[in-house]
Amino acid sequence: MTQIISIANPAGGTGKTTTARAIATSAVEYGQRTLLVDLDERATLTFLHGVENPRHTVVDVLNGRSGLGTAGLSTAERYMFLPATSRNSVLERNPEPESWQKNFRKAISEAEFPIDLVVLDLPSSISQATAWGLSVADSVVVPFLDSLSAIRGAIQVKNMHPEKNQALAIMQKDLASAFANELAHEMPLLDTAIPKAAQVGASELKKQSALSSAKEAPVSQAYREMTYFLLGL
Ligand SMILES: Nc1ncnc2c1ncn2[C@@H]1O[C@H](COP(=O)(O)OP(=O)(O)OP(=O)(O)O)[C@@H](O)[C@H]1O
Ligand SMILES: [Mg+2]
Repeated sequence: MTQIISIANPAGGTGKTTTARAIATSAVEYGQRTLLVDLDERATLTFLHGVENPRHTVVDVLNGRSGLGTAGLSTAERYMFLPATSRNSVLERNPEPESWQKNFRKAISEAEFPIDLVVLDLPSSISQATAWGLSVADSVVVPFLDSLSAIRGAIQVKNMHPEKNQALAIMQKDLASAFANELAHEMPLLDTAIPKAAQVGASELKKQSALSSAKEAPVSQAYREMTYFLLGL
């Protein structure tokens, strides 16, 4: 069975892309064959892998035009990566969530190796891509900062799919902050807080996850702990 984890918060800059890559990287460390997917038409995660305007993207896979053998990229961090481009906006103009679901499942079942885990990096918008990414997820991680707009985003995610098994990642040490207390009424908080760390930006410059360039840093260990929990290991 392939587990799908979506990383979502319609509020901008809450750490979704960083969290998605960190989960994929540590899942590989735990021996999971992993596919990381950029569903954001701004293609930040794609850019952070050193790729611009790839010929085949997640859009081709969702529309059934390409398989993972064509569109999937291998990475130094040993997960497969499915990139995005600004052409992702085509998903918003022609929403076909049911055929996306069918084509995506088919691509996964036809992959050259069995995929244990899919991590979806969702955009900062309440868009067709976000709605689809939430609907296919087994669990949803909602990165959150101490801000009212991030709480609002978390509640929007919850309201879009109230039945989902939701977990909440927090990017600050202080789990007792007033914002975290407010949000705890709405959804469970993950035990592991993700510290704010300079290694995250420094590793972006190297086009890597902090887990690769700062293996032992507390922020990397926190992402590993969080992934361990999410994988139910
Ligand atoms: N744990 C962390 N410590 C320090 N900086 C971080 C951490 N996580 C993310 N950041 C920084 O915060 C910024 C936003 O992070 P990220 O791009 O992951 O958020 P996002 O929710 O995907 O944003 P967007 O809404 O643009 O898609 C980035 O500059 C990133 O380097
Ligand atoms: Mg992002």
